[in-house]
Amino acid sequence: MLASGMLFPGFAGVWTPVLQSRKVKRDPVGIRVAGEKVVLFRGRDGVPGALVDRCPHRGVALSLGQVGEDGCIACPFHGWRFGPDGTARHVPLNPDAKLERLGATALPVREIGDLLWIFTAAVETAPVEPIPPEALVDPALRRTYLEVTWNCHWTRAMENMLDTPHLPFVHRTTIGRSMAKRMTPSSRMEITWEERPWGSRQGFRLDGQGDVAFLDFHRPNMMALHIPIPGRRFRMHALVIPIDDRTTRLIVASARDFATFPLLDPFFDRMNARIAAQDQGVVESSDPVEAPPAGEEVSVATDRATLHFRKYYLDELRPSGKG
Ligand code: FES
Ligand SMILES: [Fe+2]
Repeated sequence: MLASGMLFPGFAGVWTPVLQSRKVKRDPVGIRVAGEKVVLFRGRDGVPGALVDRCPHRGVALSLGQVGEDGCIACPFHGWRFGPDGTARHVPLNPDAKLERLGATALPVREIGDLLWIFTAAVETAPVEPIPPEALVDPALRRTYLEVTWNCHWTRAMENMLDTPHLPFVHRTTIGRSMAKRMTPSSRMEITWEERPWGSRQGFRLDGQGDVAFLDFHRPNMMALHIPIPGRRFRMHALVIPIDDRTTRLIVASARDFATFPLLDPFFDRMNARIAAQDQGVVESSDPVEAPPAGEEVSVATDRATLHFRKYYLDELRPSGKG
């Protein structure tokens, strides 16, 4: 087994959603997360497995192989078979092989809500369980999922999702419309702040008018925006998944307790696609590519949430996984 310290540098030892569950049937699906290749598949009874996508024998991508009736993934090169927990179950042509020495590197995996989550370290048992934003698991809510890929470092995308003062600028024709209309040169955005066990909750509103909107940061890489509609629950989530230093995949998930007919789902996805497209160009232009230490850019009071994330990233996450 590889030392966990060598995997997922800068994003090690955390739970992250990686894919919608429905995208993984039995056949292996190869993805990349924070620079590491990972293969997801389903063993017997649909139990999900996540392995580092590198055969321990000669480094071939296991995702090129197949999953058999026994629920094991077979490497395409010499046919070694591994269970969802990484254990070697069969090494062809070598009946004396010591299987216990020949396992693949397994990652803890969970299926929660409509998503597959992995823990970014090669450990048998993750030290904590994932805590999903509540609206992603509440059976009373109807959810939609949209996936987009941006050419940026994930930290810039995450900060964008936590950034409230860009709403009346970047999103003046969508979710920032009412703020853009009410804003005057002397307007002030009031921000409240609470630490939560899973991250933090920011409340914001303009000039003391209207409802306070809440925006949650769920460590390490999730945002939930509570869109204030009286008597309704309506959330927009961004799950910000690092692919490599210049590529980020976003799963934009909406959750609602009104207009729950499935036929209306495309409406919510189209709206989210429009909002995400408004952010994309701005975020992709960020220089330097990765969010730098706070002292290297200037900040103001409305940057509280992004600075909080930046500190968490630079102090806790970025040093992680260094060999
Ligand atoms: S490289 Fe995978 S079995 Fe040989
Ligand atoms: Fe935005």
